Amino acid sequence: MTQAPINGQAEGGLEPIIRCRGLTRTYIKGDNTITPLAELDLDVARGEFIALMGPSGSGKTTLLNLVAGIDKPTSGSLRVGGVELADVSPSRLAAFRSEYIGYVFQLYNLVPVLTAYENVELPLLLHRLSGRERHQRVATALQLVGLADRHDHFPRQLSGGQEQRVAIARAIVTDPRIIVADEPTGDLDKESAAAVMALLEQLTAEMGKTIVMVTHDPKSAAHASRVLHLEKGRLVVQDERFATLAGA
Ligand SMILES: Nc1ncnc2c1ncn2[C@@H]1O[C@H](COP(=O)(O)OP(=O)(O)O)[C@@H](O)[C@H]1O
Ligand SMILES: [Mg+2]
Repeated sequence: MTQAPINGQAEGGLEPIIRCRGLTRTYIKGDNTITPLAELDLDVARGEFIALMGPSGSGKTTLLNLVAGIDKPTSGSLRVGGVELADVSPSRLAAFRSEYIGYVFQLYNLVPVLTAYENVELPLLLHRLSGRERHQRVATALQLVGLADRHDHFPRQLSGGQEQRVAIARAIVTDPRIIVADEPTGDLDKESAAAVMALLEQLTAEMGKTIVMVTHDPKSAAHASRVLHLEKGRLVVQDERFATLAGA
């Protein structure tokens, strides 16, 4: 790969937390080959808040799934936290996900028969923790998203914005280094969207989390430190002034 990445070189020689080189994902469907991601070069530094924009079908979710280790590259290199994800074994990949990744979805994906507390607790059941420590972590996560008083509510008893905040608490309860979010405000009213964005911003500013967020909403993208545009599986524009131009 001779071409420099489109942007975001790591500073001070530290490897970026996400590093893609020639990252390609191809699906074969009958006689057709679909290439949702084509030869992508990208560096994301620790603590960056990336907004990923682009038309439907441009490869945004594919990129998130690759970074999250729930899909594998067809070719090219994808290093996350210094680990080459194409090469790791399934068990190592599970450990990687649990250490590195919190995933936030557009439609929250809460388990309807579990309370807010139990939903947030769920990922911790894969960790070896005492009951006391588990409780402490769940309580802290719910407090951070401002929903400590709703711990015993079921998802149907919460607003969309509250459901998404529970989903964020669930994503961060394991203290992952990276949060990937796929249109996290796509189904929310303006006010709830603003609350969710403020929360994500707080996670980078105060806890140093790296965030990669897909959004169609310029207002949400304006919260990011960098906006990337995908088109047909390629990065097309990079505009660091976007945040200022779009206004808050
Ligand atoms: N598992 C899959 N099998 C076949 N094609 C897929 C699969 N996942 C995604 N695609 C195709 O890849 C392209 C990009 O999809 P996606 O990454 O979901 O786009 P976006 O999130 O930007 O809307 C689409 O054409 C989609 O149909
Ligand atoms: Mg998508």
